Amino acid sequence: MSQEELKQFNSLDLSKESSRNDSLQQENIQQLTKEQSTVRPSNQLQGGLLGWYATSSSRSIKTNKLYHFSMYNEPLVLYRDKDSIVRCIKDLCPHRGASFLDGALEGGEIVCPYHGARYSSKGQCTNIDRITCSHIVDTNYDNYAKKIHLYQYPCVEKNGYIYIYYTGKAKTNLNEFEIKSPLENTLVESYGYKIPEYEFEEVTVDFKADWARIIENHLDILHIFWVHGDTIPDKDVSRNVITSFNQVITREHRQIQSKYNHKDKSKGEFITIKFIPPGRVVIYKGQEESSRYVQVLDHIPLAENRARVIVRHYRKFMKNKIITNLFLFKNLQHRVFYKVFSEDYNILKTQTFNQQMGYVEKDNVKLLGEDKMVQYYWDWLQSALIKDKPWELHPTNEHTNAIHKEMEMEYPPENPKLAISNRREILYKLAIRVLIPIGLIFLII
Ligand code: FES
Ligand SMILES: [Fe+2]
Repeated sequence: MSQEELKQFNSLDLSKESSRNDSLQQENIQQLTKEQSTVRPSNQLQGGLLGWYATSSSRSIKTNKLYHFSMYNEPLVLYRDKDSIVRCIKDLCPHRGASFLDGALEGGEIVCPYHGARYSSKGQCTNIDRITCSHIVDTNYDNYAKKIHLYQYPCVEKNGYIYIYYTGKAKTNLNEFEIKSPLENTLVESYGYKIPEYEFEEVTVDFKADWARIIENHLDILHIFWVHGDTIPDKDVSRNVITSFNQVITREHRQIQSKYNHKDKSKGEFITIKFIPPGRVVIYKGQEESSRYVQVLDHIPLAENRARVIVRHYRKFMKNKIITNLFLFKNLQHRVFYKVFSEDYNILKTQTFNQQMGYVEKDNVKLLGEDKMVQYYWDWLQSALIKDKPWELHPTNEHTNAIHKEMEMEYPPENPKLAISNRREILYKLAIRVLIPIGLIFLII
């Protein structure tokens, strides 16, 4: 810097500048808040991003095994305790902060790989033998142990799902959680579906794509005719057939819903799509109480640009569940699921969300009337993010979550090896399914 420049620089009243910046910032915030309050829909959905998430299917969480995953970048572990109750803990040993990645489960108690501390179902340390020298703890063993406690999230197993009440702040005492939105509000039964009457099949898929973009994809009816035109077994879903619909969108305090009816009235209803915050999408035909087909999609925000989806198809062809099951050909259905997800993934992986990009502005894209459902979802997401800011709780950088990034993902669509082994497994099961009845018929003859 030259002498002249230095003089000029020193003469600048930086305090004034910074207070001007502060007041500008303040103005911007006020302006933003004003805009937000004006764009905020009058019948705003209740519940922000923090809340109940179906994070796994029950059957995928076996006893004596630790399941590492993350939510909003926060490393977590799921496991079953000695009573087979599922626990969700922060992947951090409260002694010296080790991960439980190489830890063990002994009699339903989790054991830290660093110094062998063991924790009860309630998260209390039950073994500190290797944490302190025995002469210190001889008389005070229990007092020392009590001070060391796992960090947990409320966890409930219901209808074959593991639900977690995620708040971004794991606590040592589960009673300290103030559960603002009861789990019942998230359950599909509370919307009128008679779930016990159905048979279902499900798959879990991990995407290296943004969580919100995947939800948006599942709320978007338009792409299914083009992207899945050759895969979804419905004569109206085809690249070559143009079908017109009437769309009715409702936005209530617990859901956004869009109903699509064929314009040709004799054909009736095509489909209804429902968004239940924070991460559930339900797609069905007919009325909730009597629908023969209900698809439930749960979206789990693992980390930035990584998300898990559990898709479950409920079917009710006949009253008898066994016959329904026989007709379902679950393995064939799995193949359809995987193909549909792979088709979506080709698009989703290009639609990344990041801080620079922010929300897609109205100027960037031209939303049509048919995109109203997506627009309403954005409205919800934007106001929910302002309230809860979940990614800010556990920001990532190149060093954080490195271990979890290497974790094996559940059938990622981009993993060709897994896709091939999955296809082999499906064909194998299908062959058994067909050959056993044929063999039985031969035996009888
Ligand atoms: S860090 Fe876990 S026992 Fe020490
Ligand atoms: Fe799709």
